[in-house]
Amino acid sequence: MKILILGIDGYIGWPLALRLISRGHTVSGADSLFTRKRVKEVNSDSLTPILTMEERIGKIKELWGKNIEYYEGDVSDASFIYDLIERIKPDAIVHLAEQRSAPYSMLGLSQATETLTKNMIGTLNLVYAMKDIVPDCHLLKLGTMGEYGTPNIDIPEGFFEIEYNGRKDNLPFPKFAGSWYHWSKVHDTNNLMFANKLWNLRITDVMQGVVYGTRIKEIHETKLYTRFDVDEVWGTALNRFCTQAVIDEPITPYGKGMQRRGFLSLEDSINCLTIGLEKPPSPGEYRVYNQFDEHYSVNELAEITARTANAILGKNCKIEHVENPRVEKEEHYYNPEHSKLKSLGYKRSRELKDDIVNILEDIQTFKDRAENLRNVIKPKTFWRKSSGITKNNPDSIQVH
Ligand SMILES: NC(=O)c1ccc[n+]([C@@H]2O[C@H](COP(=O)([O-])OP(=O)(O)OC[C@H]3O[C@@H](n4cnc5c(N)ncnc54)[C@H](O)[C@@H]3O)[C@@H](O)[C@H]2O)c1
Repeated sequence: MKILILGIDGYIGWPLALRLISRGHTVSGADSLFTRKRVKEVNSDSLTPILTMEERIGKIKELWGKNIEYYEGDVSDASFIYDLIERIKPDAIVHLAEQRSAPYSMLGLSQATETLTKNMIGTLNLVYAMKDIVPDCHLLKLGTMGEYGTPNIDIPEGFFEIEYNGRKDNLPFPKFAGSWYHWSKVHDTNNLMFANKLWNLRITDVMQGVVYGTRIKEIHETKLYTRFDVDEVWGTALNRFCTQAVIDEPITPYGKGMQRRGFLSLEDSINCLTIGLEKPPSPGEYRVYNQFDEHYSVNELAEITARTANAILGKNCKIEHVENPRVEKEEHYYNPEHSKLKSLGYKRSRELKDDIVNILEDIQTFKDRAENLRNVIKPKTFWRKSSGITKNNPDSIQVH
């Protein structure tokens, strides 16, 4: 299959490219290098050392004898997307190319504007270009479980049957996101549903949980690392906790630590996306699946990280709760459904505790790089305090 990965340089895009190449697909990709640039702006960097896109492509050629057509550009630029799709004419497009940090979107008005506009316009450009050039192409778009928020009822996979005043319908489940980033994903979802209704595009909208891990099989074998962010703006809780454990800092859950989210390993995220691509929806179908293996509270993540680091690295980890910089419920019901991927043949391959061992080992390997990130892990971005009144251009401002 000819597959175009938008956001190929990212945490998920790069391992997905490795997996699809190794399964014999023809892969091309595009990226604006947005994440590399914005992470540097908060004085941070990927904890794992990552090659440039040119070096990555060279290594793929060396190892698999395959060429990746790569284009640097921004999906929110309509002419870039139209030219790209005209040139490649893909059978499937994986759209990962969005600003993906909730805390970044909460830094101030300019970052909120940048997140909402770039993400929504990028997706809109894409569905128009597909409709005009490759109307039968399958779009696999990454949304997030965070679109649903934390309602006090079970969360279905996209749609649910509801009865009101004696009448029934099958409707999209109401969304209540918790950051401008998550709202940008909700708006994308609405636009994708509408594009499907208008033009019969075939679309998979993936509500993905938080992904953890530094490896998939191909990364372990080739040492072609994907990025791994651990700072307060770009890193997720488990990445931060594992890094804190290795550099002998206390592990710092936000607030009460009872917040509960769905998680899955990088290996299983790539497995799910591969299944989604190789078992596409029917022409004209819009499908949604919730992609996560298990839900954990932040305290559970902190405790399992501490236990594992104590056992395998001989650490004596302490857990210290810090003021929650976010605006979120700290105690809540959480029970999302996730059976559709299983019905397509997906089976979980990794357990959290095994991946934590691998993450800790990889951080230990790059301990010098982890030490350099010591000062960017604890929270400085407090969501209620974010401002930005006249700061309309993120390129013209310092975020710290
Ligand atoms: N990693 C997770 O835990 C997770 C969870 C749920 C959803 N997602 C979603 O999955 C997707 C990929 O996430 P990731 O963790 O790999 O993020 P990432 O930031 O590492 O990768 C995204 C890539 O897209 C590029 N990009 C961003 N905006 C772009 C634009 N306008 N034009 C071209 N390129 C652009 C970035 O430079 C980056 O290389 C995102 O849409 C994210 O919202 C990720």
